[in-house]
Amino acid sequence: MAIVETRSLTKRYNTFTALKDLNLQIEVGDVFGFIGPNGAGKTTTIRILSTLLAPTAGAAFIDGIDVTKQPYEIKKILGYMPDSFGVYDGMRLREYLDFFGAAYKIPAKKRKTIIDDVLALTDLNSKADDFVSAFSRGMKQRCCLAKTLLHDPKVLLLDEPASGLDPRARIEMRELLKTLQGMGKTILISSHILSELGDMCNKIGIIEHGTLLAAGDFREILNTLQQEREVRIEVLEGEDAAMKILEATPGVTSLERSGSEFNFVSQLDRIALANLNTALVTGGVKVLSFSQEEGTLEDVFLHVTKGGL
Ligand SMILES: Nc1ncnc2c1ncn2[C@@H]1O[C@H](COP(=O)(O)OP(=O)(O)OP(=O)(O)O)[C@@H](O)[C@H]1O
Ligand SMILES: [Mg+2]
Repeated sequence: MAIVETRSLTKRYNTFTALKDLNLQIEVGDVFGFIGPNGAGKTTTIRILSTLLAPTAGAAFIDGIDVTKQPYEIKKILGYMPDSFGVYDGMRLREYLDFFGAAYKIPAKKRKTIIDDVLALTDLNSKADDFVSAFSRGMKQRCCLAKTLLHDPKVLLLDEPASGLDPRARIEMRELLKTLQGMGKTILISSHILSELGDMCNKIGIIEHGTLLAAGDFREILNTLQQEREVRIEVLEGEDAAMKILEATPGVTSLERSGSEFNFVSQLDRIALANLNTALVTGGVKVLSFSQEEGTLEDVFLHVTKGGL
């Protein structure tokens, strides 16, 4: 069941159309990577879903609730982390969380336990009594995520949570997202740090100029969009037979052999590749390994998007 859904969602700023008929579906438990170049419409979509911006046309639902009709109900089940955020001067982390906990109407008695939980989850225990305004960017980011988790939202919308983080902090962010996914939360995360989203997200949606170019399972998208990929075969016996079979296979180009290793660029689909493997084996070749170069998210991104604002 789709827990986040947009139907022909459209947003115009005066005459400029920032979102065009966006149809998005995110299932319960997904970590959905929302990817697109600058100005694609990611923040616009997230702000509409967070009830902060009214769409021009179309509709958006979270857990079946219409975001424009019941914004208050949406806020109860939604955690939104904006792409930029201010923190307050003169507030210690625990006070900051307590302040927002109160704003979410969490009873004072329960607040301490909940704050301890989110501090532990975001690994901020040791900072609980420090001033938020003195935190580094990465720590502020965590602190904002901790705040986002206070009311135990079902759905998290994180607008570029990894931007500005150092490599270690990014890995920690990824681990945290995994933990949250394990807790049953559905997460939408926008980014242009593509390679990272690859192992953070199970699904992706690629957006450009307010239009969704592709969406779905990360691997499937990679497979359908990558027409050409490099294949490497290593054989134990039967090199000459292998060479003959490969040379005779349409869709195998730039074939190179070095010893018992063969490299080529393949235009074959998955079935044809599997058949090629079978043909080698039945042709008497002892195949040691048969591997395709793993495509990266960057490849897909550059392939699908045209660039230009
Ligand atoms: N308040 C506004 N008034 C006019 N145009 C706007 C406004 N907010 C956004 N836009 C335009 O809408 C388009 C989409 O912007 P949006 O912020 O959603 O992009 P984004 O995908 O989040 O980009 P980025 O990766 O840079 O954060 C951009 O062309 C932007 O200039
Ligand atoms: Mg943005």
